[in-house]
Amino acid sequence: MSADKIPDSRIARHAVLGDLPVQKDVTIYFEGKPLKAREGEPIMAALVAAGVTVFRYTKKGSPRRMFCGIGRCTDCVMTVDGVPGVRTCVTEVRQGMRVERQQGVGSWSVQAEAGHAQ
Ligand code: FES
Repeated sequence: MSADKIPDSRIARHAVLGDLPVQKDVTIYFEGKPLKAREGEPIMAALVAAGVTVFRYTKKGSPRRMFCGIGRCTDCVMTVDGVPGVRTCVTEVRQGMRVERQQGVGSWSVQAEAGHAQ
């Protein structure tokens, strides 16, 4: 699925704040597929807007999604650019970043170990 075909569930007009500023679109890759995100928003916001509901799996295989949303738990941790354990609710998207669901505590990719993660 191309980044343009993913539905966007973000709020454009807030009941109290009014029209929200439009941010620059960037492309990130979730499980290898392009996904439209807005520059500076948390990774989690981009994933939720695209309909993603599972962010990681525990060691026993139970799915996890957003819980605190403020960087205090570990339910949203994912592997980002080969680095496991990244809290996606408090990490801003960057053009071209690669985001993968994490299994258990995750593992470092060869790319990240070689210092090629961006
Ligand atoms: S949802 Fe709790 S740290 Fe992100």
